[in-house]
Amino acid sequence: MAYEMEKEILQQPEVLQNLINQYITPENNISFKLPEGIKKLKFIASGSSYHCSGMVAKIFREFANIKASYEYASEFYIAKNIFIDQNTLYIFISQSGETFDTVEALKRVKAKGGQTLCITNCIDSSLWNLCDYKILSDAGEEKSIASTKALTAQLFCLYLLMLEFLKTKGHNITTEINEIKQLPNFIDKFLKNIEQIKVAADKLSKAQNAIIIGSKYYYSIAKEGALKIKETSYLDANAYPQGEFLHGHVAVLNNKPVLIAIVVEDTKESMELILSKIFEDYTPELITISNEDSINSKAMNIKIDTKNNIFNVFATVITFQVLAFETATKLGRNVDKPLGLKKIVK
Ligand code: AGP
Repeated sequence: MAYEMEKEILQQPEVLQNLINQYITPENNISFKLPEGIKKLKFIASGSSYHCSGMVAKIFREFANIKASYEYASEFYIAKNIFIDQNTLYIFISQSGETFDTVEALKRVKAKGGQTLCITNCIDSSLWNLCDYKILSDAGEEKSIASTKALTAQLFCLYLLMLEFLKTKGHNITTEINEIKQLPNFIDKFLKNIEQIKVAADKLSKAQNAIIIGSKYYYSIAKEGALKIKETSYLDANAYPQGEFLHGHVAVLNNKPVLIAIVVEDTKESMELILSKIFEDYTPELITISNEDSINSKAMNIKIDTKNNIFNVFATVITFQVLAFETATKLGRNVDKPLGLKKIVK
């Protein structure tokens, strides 16, 4: 049986190419309509869209030196006091544009006069109709409950948004634009070479639970990976910032979960140290996801063959989508309609 989730994972190169055609002009300009004078960004969303916010807020801070924060929509709208700043752009991210928590959070910001922008996959949704500025993530209908192509489409639009902000600050973004145009091709090749991910899924399907560790925006990717595994296979999967994991949380390794470590160049040294400390007391089954070759002699490594930071971000997100899908199908789950889950939480 062909699952929608698998089809939607495989559609990602096409979705990204469509966004390039739609939003990057032949002169290499980005055709977004944005407000002027913005100094800070605040991302508000739920579920996978929230994890996308986390990735992007940290990417904005690290690559563009722009103040960016993010919050769960459900926590934002329920707070007694919210503080709205006129120099902040409030960015609401939602596949459906109808998620209750996200729409309520938007209404609170609007009531206090904040400037709003949405990234959504659904034109004419509540979010689309209420926001001052809007970007269509245009991934096409997403039928699977587990979000895949909608999330990468959001991520792509937000990366373009960051480039546009950099441009307004006087940066020349031609190199980045030319690079990002190669992303669909890279992802297409990546999706044709998933043998290692299938081996990892075999290990995961035999375990009771999984722990994922990573740092910076890779921590948000780890959280998204854990959500994808939970909602498709029902395994207990949890993510931790790699350094924080040693502060007591590490004791969960007594339950013998599979440990998945996301290793990238600039956090590699710290991860090597953390793994060596872990192996002093525990012997977890270790899977690494990395764009480096050999990380740890005890690990099975899923290699992502790129040194481009942004390509690596997309490929790591997609690695978890494939890992979740392969694990869940090995366990005989109906990945498109997980028990007890709905596509839109109203
Ligand atoms: C994603 O795989 C989930 N199904 C879920 O977390 C979802 O992302 C969340 O409910 C938010 O949905 P939205 O993007 O439509 O607002």
